[in-house]
Amino acid sequence: MRLILLGAPGAGKGTQAEMLNSLLNIPIISTGNIFRAHIAEGTELGIKAKRYIDEGKLVPDELTIDIVKDRLNQDDCKNGMILDGFPRTIKQAQALDALLVELNMPLDKVINVEVADEEIIERMAGRTVCSSCGTPYHKKFKVEKVAGICDNCQGKLIQREDDRKETVKKRLKVYHDQTSPLIEYYKRQNKLVNIDGIGSVEEISLRVKNALGVN
Ligand code: AP5
Repeated sequence: MRLILLGAPGAGKGTQAEMLNSLLNIPIISTGNIFRAHIAEGTELGIKAKRYIDEGKLVPDELTIDIVKDRLNQDDCKNGMILDGFPRTIKQAQALDALLVELNMPLDKVINVEVADEEIIERMAGRTVCSSCGTPYHKKFKVEKVAGICDNCQGKLIQREDDRKETVKKRLKVYHDQTSPLIEYYKRQNKLVNIDGIGSVEEISLRVKNALGVN
């Protein structure tokens, strides 16, 4: 299955991507996680991306599209993939359409997770993520088994720099200006499924599974 997870920052895309990865055994391609790995390694790309991410802005399309192109060409994407946080602009969506045609990898569905801005601000304030594999946790809504340690890979949990309240507000503005037009874009392609993102993680997972007809 080939899927896109669409939604505002903090809507729960990464959380649902983890669930789908366990269920369907297909890789997650998270551009945010790829950028954070480059930042941690201090690569040239990481240094460039950090400036934009810390300010709550999008990383330029050219850099982002190239990363996804490389990743989609890897063998583990042959049986499907979950795109989390890409595309985020109309230009990225058009580039992805062209790439998927070239690779003969038609898209199945675009899951749009809908959550109001006020709820997102609360979620981000309590979020931690694994510094190694990127799995998201929450102090109240998704608590790890051993404090500060990732359940999946035993990596150390950290708070993301861009989860500060002022940066989150900027990221939400960027989402409404540049990413939300993709809802209409994929609606026109008959690929869009809207999922109410309010409820427990398990409730949202059930909605996603029902929408995809998997369990
Ligand atoms: P990225 O890492 O993609 O961040 P994002 O899209 O802003 O999304 P988040 O990871 O913040 O949230 P999420 O929707 O995955 O929610 P999560 O599951 O963690 O991108 C970061 C930056 O990189 C961007 O700002 C940009 O600069 C750059 N970038 C990345 N991709 C790019 C692109 N394509 N083009 C250009 N630039 C790009 O959940 C959030 C919290 O809520 C967690 O704590 C979680 O445990 C909790 N939670 C989840 N579900 C629920 C629930 N149902 N109830 C209560 N709490 C819940």
